[in-house]
Amino acid sequence: MSFRTPIIAGNWKMHLGPSQAREFITEFLAAYQPRDDRTVVLFPPAVSLEAVHHSIGDRRDLRLGVQHLHWEAEGAFTGETSAAMAADAGATFALIGHSERRHLFGETIEETLRKTQAALAAGLSAVLCVGETLQERRDGRAEQVVADQLLPVIRNLSSADAGNFAIAYEPVWAIGTGETASPADAAAMHSSIRAVLSRELPSGAAVPILYGGSVKPANAGDLLAAPEVQGLLVGGASLKPADFAMICNVSP
Ligand code: PGA
Repeated sequence: MSFRTPIIAGNWKMHLGPSQAREFITEFLAAYQPRDDRTVVLFPPAVSLEAVHHSIGDRRDLRLGVQHLHWEAEGAFTGETSAAMAADAGATFALIGHSERRHLFGETIEETLRKTQAALAAGLSAVLCVGETLQERRDGRAEQVVADQLLPVIRNLSSADAGNFAIAYEPVWAIGTGETASPADAAAMHSSIRAVLSRELPSGAAVPILYGGSVKPANAGDLLAAPEVQGLLVGGASLKPADFAMICNVSP
């Protein structure tokens, strides 16, 4: 595996352009000292990747990722970024299939597979986001929806790829809403995802499963302590250097 768990990841979404990103890094580096018992990953907007890469200087304990990519290496795809370009700008991770990509931009399950394959082929570690809506949960279909997002991708992974692959379970109803899945809810879904991974992949037991959705300093420890939670994907709270540093230092 190319990373240590727990993985604490910050998804900045469409926040912090290059200048603000540099300011964030200055404050964050002062607040978070390197530790070798976890992996910290920042997902800035693509346009800020290189600025962040330069700003972290020799703090190579911090990893960078791209929030979204196109599966082609290059070409006439206005507005898109390829995995190789993200890697060139300093990324070693890629977020795939975030619920905002799926629900706001119509990203399909087939596209998440192509993007995962492109990320892995370019040497990036892929973090596939899965999660159900509130209606799907109320209808009792949460586990099925998550399995449907997961299976087409993992069935096409080689065992070598699986070592560079992680899942982020992010219930859509908990993203940016202040609603957090309880540690018990997270543990239940993570164990269902673990069962699918173990059944489908020879090394499925080793694939880290992150929880995301309204993670904050106050709930990060309890979530990380829940069974089968090997990391956290943090949105809003990753934009504040002090808060994100607290989450990065949390003990499970
Ligand atoms: P949130 O976002 O922490 O602001 O809920 C999480 C995410 O979308 O990755």
